[in-house]
Amino acid sequence: MSQAAPLKVAVVGLGFVGLPLSLAYWQSGAEVFGAEIDPNLRHELSQGITHHLESDAGKPISAILRDALESGRYHLLADAAEATKSSEATIVTVGIPHRGDSLDLSALQGALRQVAQAAGRGHLILLRSTVPPGTTRRDLLGVLEDLGKRPGVDVYAAYCPERIAEGRAFHEFRAMPVILGAFDEASLERARAVVSFVTQAGIATTESVEAAELSKVIENVQRDVNIAIAQELARACEAAGVDVFEVIRLANTHERVHLLEPGPGVGGFCLPLALSYFLPFAEAHRIETPTLLAARRTNAAVPKVLAERVLAHARALAPGETPRVAVFGLAMKDYSNDARLSPPLEVCQLLIEAGAEVRAVDPAVPQTFPFKGDDPQWAVEGAHALMLLSRQHELEAWLSDPAHLLALHRGALIADARNWLRNAADLQELGLAYWRI
Ligand SMILES: NC(=O)c1ccc[n+]([C@@H]2O[C@H](COP(=O)([O-])OP(=O)(O)OC[C@H]3O[C@@H](n4cnc5c(N)ncnc54)[C@H](O)[C@@H]3O)[C@@H](O)[C@H]2O)c1
Repeated sequence: MSQAAPLKVAVVGLGFVGLPLSLAYWQSGAEVFGAEIDPNLRHELSQGITHHLESDAGKPISAILRDALESGRYHLLADAAEATKSSEATIVTVGIPHRGDSLDLSALQGALRQVAQAAGRGHLILLRSTVPPGTTRRDLLGVLEDLGKRPGVDVYAAYCPERIAEGRAFHEFRAMPVILGAFDEASLERARAVVSFVTQAGIATTESVEAAELSKVIENVQRDVNIAIAQELARACEAAGVDVFEVIRLANTHERVHLLEPGPGVGGFCLPLALSYFLPFAEAHRIETPTLLAARRTNAAVPKVLAERVLAHARALAPGETPRVAVFGLAMKDYSNDARLSPPLEVCQLLIEAGAEVRAVDPAVPQTFPFKGDDPQWAVEGAHALMLLSRQHELEAWLSDPAHLLALHRGALIADARNWLRNAADLQELGLAYWRI
């Protein structure tokens, strides 16, 4: 924990990043003013309820939230301006929704304007959202200048891209090296003090805020490209009868190689949209990015590959019948409650569009869908295929009893997109087929 002097900090946007970040500041001794515009989310949080699966040293985030609320040092507010006025630094973690391929920056711009207007003398505004390069200069620096507030003199402004992975937030807020960009030295130093209130890791600073913005965007693009490599490798290995996970395990023993694993596609708000943040920048400078575009296409096509594979099996197994498919896991990655842009959801959609009956279960994803239920037994009953698309502990426990799989249609296909079931021989004994991506 930081030994720095107590700090009054506002966090604007209490979502996947903002909630654990605000609690990490509280844990380090800060007085926290969390601003969340969504009344339903705010109400849940005020009751100590959150669906996020973060934990710190085994303590779930909901317990940390309840302790924070009881401490009197953690305040929930609706208004970003009020939170800013109550504090000496404001961290903005508002996301950027997308409409198709285009990004809608209006919520972020609105939040930055609210904060910039409310920021008093000496206040630090720290933008932590992932943004298209140029956003901090236009929507933070530009707004401050319009208001007559001189950055580095009247107020401080900096950009600090968030790099955590969902599920590891508390640890990574402390341990992940941080990138910090500001337009002036005074803002950089003030931001360093506020960031290091929580982080114990290195802080790489730059006076090129665009470089800081780009570094975050390209981190995400790079993961997207790496996963595309793994997907193409998986298809080639499958055709050749080679175990792709064995190939990856062996290749990764090289110190300078780090292949990622194939899966049901790339989901969440960060990776699939990363190219939308980068392309306008590249295009503005007339730079073509064929490799990045091809990788995005490869990853975007994976749910279709999976759905077609499963449908072909179901139709061959029970000609003339409605294909029935059980799906385990709707989250965008393993052990997550995040179903935003989730490939498993897209798989379900594609199956339904093709005329299949889908029964999906995911105990961690709070959203309801017409094809979602609570009981794995209900999902597998008579199904022609069971798709394992993202892991959850409860589903793993249920699957550990092979007898449960006897409820499937005889000859059903287990389509394993997460390298979940390793012993395919057991499945053959049960009269089931097995396909691992
Ligand atoms: N989710 C991740 O793991 C992750 C990791 C790294 C970076 N990021 C980036 O961090 C940012 C936040 O992502 P997220 O997943 O936490 O988004 P999120 O949608 O879960 O949270 C953002 C929250 O901001 C709230 N909000 C919007 N306008 C507001 C306003 N004016 N005042 C107060 N609250 C407001 C929304 O209601 C929402 O709850 C994004 O830029 C994202 O790309 C996310």
